[in-house]
Amino acid sequence: MSAAVALRSLLGVLLLIGPVWSADPPAVVGKSGMVVAAEPLAAEIGVDILRQGGNAVDAAVAVGFALAVTYPAAGNLGGGGFLVAVVSGEDGPETITLDFRETAPAAAHPRLYIDAADAGRPDAATLGPLAAGVPGSVAGMLHALERWGTMERSKVLAPAIRLARGGFALPKRTADFLAAKSIAEKMQQFPATAALFYPDGKPLAAGAPLVQTELAQTLDSIAMSGRDGFYKGTVAAAIVAEMKRAGGIITAEDLAGYKPIERTPIRFGYRGHTVISMPPPSSGGFCLQQTLTMLQYLSLSRYGHNSSASIHVISEALRRSFLDRNRYLGDPDGQELPLPRLLSRAHIEKSLSSMQLDKATPTSSLAAPAKGVDESEQTTHFAVVDRHRNAVAITTTLNGAFGCKALVKGAGFLLNNEMDDFATRPEQPNQYGLVQGEANLVRPGRRPLSSMSPTIVLDKKERVEHVLGTPGGPTIITNVLQVFLNLVTYGLAPQAAVNAPKFHHQSIPDRIDYEPEIPRDVLDNLRKRGHALRLRQRIGDFQLISVDIEGGTVHGATDPRGGGAAVGY
Ligand code: DON
Repeated sequence: MSAAVALRSLLGVLLLIGPVWSADPPAVVGKSGMVVAAEPLAAEIGVDILRQGGNAVDAAVAVGFALAVTYPAAGNLGGGGFLVAVVSGEDGPETITLDFRETAPAAAHPRLYIDAADAGRPDAATLGPLAAGVPGSVAGMLHALERWGTMERSKVLAPAIRLARGGFALPKRTADFLAAKSIAEKMQQFPATAALFYPDGKPLAAGAPLVQTELAQTLDSIAMSGRDGFYKGTVAAAIVAEMKRAGGIITAEDLAGYKPIERTPIRFGYRGHTVISMPPPSSGGFCLQQTLTMLQYLSLSRYGHNSSASIHVISEALRRSFLDRNRYLGDPDGQELPLPRLLSRAHIEKSLSSMQLDKATPTSSLAAPAKGVDESEQTTHFAVVDRHRNAVAITTTLNGAFGCKALVKGAGFLLNNEMDDFATRPEQPNQYGLVQGEANLVRPGRRPLSSMSPTIVLDKKERVEHVLGTPGGPTIITNVLQVFLNLVTYGLAPQAAVNAPKFHHQSIPDRIDYEPEIPRDVLDNLRKRGHALRLRQRIGDFQLISVDIEGGTVHGATDPRGGGAAVGY
């Protein structure tokens, strides 16, 4: 063990004594409230709403619509997502989850993408309108506002409309995405997308004004008519026309019938804390509960933060949880998912019985081997804590960067490619390398299984302590797990918990992905245990809010890996 590792292990043990929030690196501190988001203009808009007296839900909805304008790679009207919140109700704090995930169109079926591949379109689940599920974001945002917000729709949408119509300087990050060859080639296949983002055939440059007049009209229509302003009338007609133009199957009836669903949160205890997270069709809450339960048996706190021993046991727990996720999880509607069995003591103990502390368990010895691939990451997470300590965590996505790349002509927004989150073809990994099962087959009206894990942690008195989330496909689960452990088990301060190097295991491919800052001797020790390793430059774009309950302040930590902002007031 090197001196650095020994020191880190010792610190890990010392930090178990209690949270010691060092000032280095500092988080942003607010007295009244905090907004964290992957794009600074949107975060500012959220704080403005809080300043006007809005609550966390008002602010989150304003941020959600603003990101659809300022962060087109992932912010969206044409996608979907999940909301996890704690808001004060008449009988005390109420925990809420809202599922506004996309649904498969009525004409979808399990062979949809097998047939498309046979017909020479192997990328039909990722590129073009056939890849799109029925969008849920607009219905989700409006449902949240009506149910738990306090402000008028028009007020909450106004900043997004202003930015869409008046334009703003394109951030470098989005300009870099647009310029990336792999993205540009696909985007330019769609005339409306090309016209907005590649005027004169060249990607918009950083700092160039992005004016989105058609998007402003769509937002006007939502401000005026609510959900009917999107799911019916001219906007819905424009979506259906886009389908006809480029081979999609979403109909006017699919749009009119879309409904967000309030679900019972996943809720479990971990060493005096309560974790509230998203249930299926997200796998996030399930995997967090399963891995954290396994880790409690393993007394993780004995191992130092990011030591080879802790990375090993966390990876082994994740390997087992991802196998269950991929095999058994899907949309809970219309089928019974075996969650109680998978979370039972007997099952956890059985999973643990195959685990060795000094040796990796090959995934192939636990399940049939399969190959995996991985892809770029684009989704976005944002969060708000208000002066009443209501908290909202939202992860929303088009799935891949700029979704299926098709912009709805006349309506100015991109459509998702969420259908790829289903098990579209037997034994074939999706764009995140996930090989999934029967429970997640493409079926009409179903929601594809997700890894998005907006999560809130409460203290013993049920007060909000932490609000967590990130993009990153399946790495979302491992990243939320690690930041949670960094805060709760290893006592890292909020910004340090976010900045710490990350790793990832998802059973298939059978390897640990690691960020460059994980020390070489830790990697050597993992190799000795039999793990395959792969360098990954960057995992996630974490947005964290931590409440210093005694001190009365709120701490916002945005990820240095991304271009976001924490804005407090
Ligand atoms: O729902 C999911 O799990 C994926 N559609 C999320 C995609 C994602 O996070 C992409 N990345 N950053």
